[in-house]
Amino acid sequence: MSGETRVRGAPPAWQFAHLSDPHLSVPGPLGVHDWLGKRALGYLSWRRRRRFEHRTEVLAALGADLARDPPEQILVTGDITQLGTPGEFLQGRRWLETLGPPQRVGLVPGNHDCTRREPWAGTLAHWQPYLDGDGPRTGSAFPSLRRRGGLALIGLSSAVPSPPLLATGRVGETQLRELESLLTATGRQGLFRVVYLHHSPVPGQDPWRKRLVDAPAVAGVIARAGAELILHGHRHRIRTATLESQGRWIPVHGTASASALGHHGEAGGYSRYLVLPGEREWRLELERRGYDGARFQSCAKLEIRIPRPAQDSDSAAQPACTKR
Ligand SMILES: [Fe+2]
Repeated sequence: MSGETRVRGAPPAWQFAHLSDPHLSVPGPLGVHDWLGKRALGYLSWRRRRRFEHRTEVLAALGADLARDPPEQILVTGDITQLGTPGEFLQGRRWLETLGPPQRVGLVPGNHDCTRREPWAGTLAHWQPYLDGDGPRTGSAFPSLRRRGGLALIGLSSAVPSPPLLATGRVGETQLRELESLLTATGRQGLFRVVYLHHSPVPGQDPWRKRLVDAPAVAGVIARAGAELILHGHRHRIRTATLESQGRWIPVHGTASASALGHHGEAGGYSRYLVLPGEREWRLELERRGYDGARFQSCAKLEIRIPRPAQDSDSAAQPACTKR
């Protein structure tokens, strides 16, 4: 799978879609020990509110929209489940298979997928081919690296259990060390580096109880090693921010929930990207698509010019964002 879209005689271009937070599963009855922990609060929240907001008909409409013009790659930034109980992972696997084969769909987990430490074998193992990078796994599953044409798609896990009423995340030192190596290596290869994770890595962007605890450390790695685009979910809303890296400003895009009706916040949405390489910069075309109550349709289009890093170009100019 090349990830490349090519019209005869045209320069190469690489396309992908980003979606997040489908919260699609229906939890089974809780065990006795679940009622003593965080899952009890999550279950009550799902019974009272979330099951009326996150709807299979919205996800079906999103699937139909993707099928009309299938992207070469799809990145999913977690929170497929409600409570992260083992039975929900099988439901998640069935939905992933409707999106496409693992070679076309890259996944990282969210905090709802990791409400409590569970054996990998009964939970995330069901999603293994979608979590994996290229080649055989060595040690930890993350960060994952998938190279598709001129893209380096790098998945980070920020999913760790947190106490009741908190929805925090953490990447951790082991992933951060590996992330810096991967970003440095793929940057030297001239690839367009997309980092995708569940929580926003922008320090101070989220409330304390929903933050990525080590966002400053992640931002530090990005500042030193660089990236071209960072994608996340978690807050169920469209957000744009930037992180600085050696005079370049890296776009950081959050997306809405893929399954939201919109009765308690933003309606469902996802994003489509097209990367067009140039000698001194990349042109990134973004189309946001949203649910209008019956189907997904185009909401906004944006073009972003992203300078190549210093080793590939003597230019370190700021990106110019132009609304079409
Ligand atoms: Fe989340």
